[in-house]
Amino acid sequence: MNVLIVGASGLVGGNCQAYLTQFAEYTVHGTHLSYGTPASVYFNSCDLADPKNAEFTGFAPDVIVHCGALTFVDYCESNQEESYLKTVTSTANLLALSSQHKSKFVYLSTDYVFDGQQGPYTEEQLVNPICVYGAHKLAAERLVIDSGLPHLILRITNVYGNELRGKNFVARILNQIAAQEPISLVLPIDQYATPINALDVAKALKSLLDGDKQGIYHLGSTDYMNRYQLADRVVRKFAYAAATLTQTTTAALAQPAPRPLNGGLMSHKFLSEFPDFRFSNIDDYLTTKTHA
Ligand SMILES: NC(=O)c1ccc[n+]([C@@H]2O[C@H](COP(=O)([O-])OP(=O)(O)OC[C@H]3O[C@@H](n4cnc5c(N)ncnc54)[C@H](OP(=O)(O)O)[C@@H]3O)[C@@H](O)[C@H]2O)c1
Repeated sequence: MNVLIVGASGLVGGNCQAYLTQFAEYTVHGTHLSYGTPASVYFNSCDLADPKNAEFTGFAPDVIVHCGALTFVDYCESNQEESYLKTVTSTANLLALSSQHKSKFVYLSTDYVFDGQQGPYTEEQLVNPICVYGAHKLAAERLVIDSGLPHLILRITNVYGNELRGKNFVARILNQIAAQEPISLVLPIDQYATPINALDVAKALKSLLDGDKQGIYHLGSTDYMNRYQLADRVVRKFAYAAATLTQTTTAALAQPAPRPLNGGLMSHKFLSEFPDFRFSNIDDYLTTKTHA
């Protein structure tokens, strides 16, 4: 199966590329935008006419996995046009490419399509985004559904894991511990989600592709925790970590973009179809780290 991963220089795309590449039946190409990696080529999904774009006609992908988006939630709130371009227009462009190659389209989405009143959420619950990022992710989901192409929409949240840039929330804390830097974080205790290892997203993607599945799937681990609890779990693992974690509330933080407070995603549908699949959790991930 030929798989094109757009956004393979990032956390989710990078894990998907590294994981799928291990299997002989998969041939995987990955792309980057601003951060070149040894395993990726340049591709700007916001502008298919960009002369620097890699060419995939010969590769003829059976599957296109779209991991590109403007993911800075607060920045999206005050830069709506840029958010629309990078999240919605980029999806429309890649759907056109998918249509050209008759590829299955895999879209990575989020629990921010919900309002956070009733999480953790199942696929059947009503969407109601409360910030620009969530609204644009939902608009992109709808383009995918309306395209008529075979597709998967994978909703995820609070992703952590190994990545080249180490920029995710957990990786940044681990990097600070490793560098023996003092850590001082003020974190909300009322933003709940289901943190997930990007490697589990990659494994779930392979199961779904192998099973020729279509539709919306929620992927979440067994953890349901707030930001403070997640950071606390990480720093407690390393007795020598010099960390001051301070609890606060979302209201006190006054972040530009409203947050879905009781967010998170339930994997019941996925697990009912793949009963042998085991989602790992943050403690499992930390046991792979003998040093931060
Ligand atoms: N991380 C999370 O907690 C989380 C939660 C929910 C949903 N998601 C969704 O999962 C997807 C992947 O997230 P992530 O955390 O892996 O993000 P990430 O680490 O920021 O990676 C995003 C990737 O997309 C590329 N990209 C950005 N804009 C692009 C464009 N216009 N054209 C082509 N490539 C572009 C980036 O390239 P460069 O870095 O090379 O510029 C990078 O490879 C996103 O759709 C995000 O909304 C993530």
